[in-house]
Amino acid sequence: MLAVTAFARFLVDYPAYSATRALDELRASEFGRLDAQGQAYLDYTGGGLHADAQVREHAQLLGEHVFGNPHSANPSSTDTTRLIERARAAVLAHFNGADDYTAVFTLNASGALKLVGESYPFAPGGRLLLTVDNHNSVNGIREFARTKGAAVDYAPLTTPDLRIDASAMNALLARADPTRANLLAYPAQSNFSGVKHPLALIDAARDRGWDVLLDAAAFVPTNRLDLRAVTPDFVTISFYKMFGYPTGVGCLLIRNAALGRLRRPWFAGGTVNFATVQARMHVLSPREAGFEDGTLNYLSIPAVEIGLRHLERIGIDTIRQRTHCLTDWLLTGLLALRHGNGRPLVRIYGPATSTQRGATVAMNFYDPQGHLLDYRRIEELAGLERISLRTGCFCNPGAGETAEGLTEDDMRAGLAEGAQITLPRFLQLMQDRGGKSAGALRVSFGLASNFADAERFLRFAGGLRDQATLTIGAASFDIESCRVIRDGS
Ligand SMILES: Cc1ncc(COP(=O)(O)O)c(C=O)c1O
Repeated sequence: MLAVTAFARFLVDYPAYSATRALDELRASEFGRLDAQGQAYLDYTGGGLHADAQVREHAQLLGEHVFGNPHSANPSSTDTTRLIERARAAVLAHFNGADDYTAVFTLNASGALKLVGESYPFAPGGRLLLTVDNHNSVNGIREFARTKGAAVDYAPLTTPDLRIDASAMNALLARADPTRANLLAYPAQSNFSGVKHPLALIDAARDRGWDVLLDAAAFVPTNRLDLRAVTPDFVTISFYKMFGYPTGVGCLLIRNAALGRLRRPWFAGGTVNFATVQARMHVLSPREAGFEDGTLNYLSIPAVEIGLRHLERIGIDTIRQRTHCLTDWLLTGLLALRHGNGRPLVRIYGPATSTQRGATVAMNFYDPQGHLLDYRRIEELAGLERISLRTGCFCNPGAGETAEGLTEDDMRAGLAEGAQITLPRFLQLMQDRGGKSAGALRVSFGLASNFADAERFLRFAGGLRDQATLTIGAASFDIESCRVIRDGS
């Protein structure tokens, strides 16, 4: 009898995967560098990968035009403006927001978040409400809120699923005085746990007097965001996470009805219709122009339109379907891994199933006695097998603190070390305080992922079975010890 391969079994268990076969052809034709170099790329939440054709088309565009600084009326300038506006229209169309939203180009999602933070009318009596699993670029908005005297609250997550605690969220939403400026900021999908938070929260919060900032950076690479179906006031995005190229361009989508809420704290070249030195006055440009400081990344922005076309040709639902199948298969496989003594090898942070979760899986590995294996060493081992994954806290301290049960006291113990605190020192501190961890490993799938990538990682993970030498504080790590561990698996 012929042996049934893992892939054949996978296709039987996940029949929907077969409908995404076009992505295998695309991987062969446009992402050949992955297989030519034997790379398993598993950090799409860190950054997407571009198709070769995106770069070719962009290079051709640059080769065929003369693009000048857009702040002018000469032919090279108007050509640039035309393409920037085409890209802006493409962004709005992609998210179905052409009638109701304004698109502001930024450097990245963080730039978009900072625009909201600095321009939102925080004031005493008003509030900022954040979920615990926000990215640091959202957490940073609390500094603007605090400086301006608004109250700052965090809505907790449930454990072990790391979903929003609905009753705590309801109680916190009820604290708002609807006559003041109140901002709720949360990720559509956590870049730590992969949890998809409910988009219904947007209307629920608005009904209680809140404006809503939806950080969609980790959601939109594999999910459809329809701004007719859900209407957050502010949406933040980085395009390299969606389609890999270009880097250095992000976007803030502002609901037109909320545009007037934002007040720029300064002006810059490009954002004013009129400015005088003698009278010390300025008139800010309306709509997006008032938010785009200085000169836009005008050579890269046309590549956003190319990237969106590429994504739409593939179909975001096809990407979602494929990455969903791979995530479910990987979760099942990881949770089944056991040491010889029957104890689990892996702890997943967040939901153990793929329900209402995206293609991001955070985890830690443990030895047969239940001691944490050092994720930094595991990353090095994975690197030797040309597997690219991510380790650390992923700029998402709150999710990690909740997942590992780190307390405020634990964090203060780290802060007490002062400016000398390093990740290794903090890890050691947490080990000493009851064997806790800080940080994790993360793998994530995207549009060029295939079954072989997932299988490689699962096989690699299985190779850590019955290993004890990677625990934190174990003898120093070198390439030879990596080999011993791999050969022994
Ligand atoms: C959920 C989320 N928000 C915001 C950001 C910040 O994106 P950028 O670094 O592109 O500004 C990231 C980046 O990983 C993210 O995952």
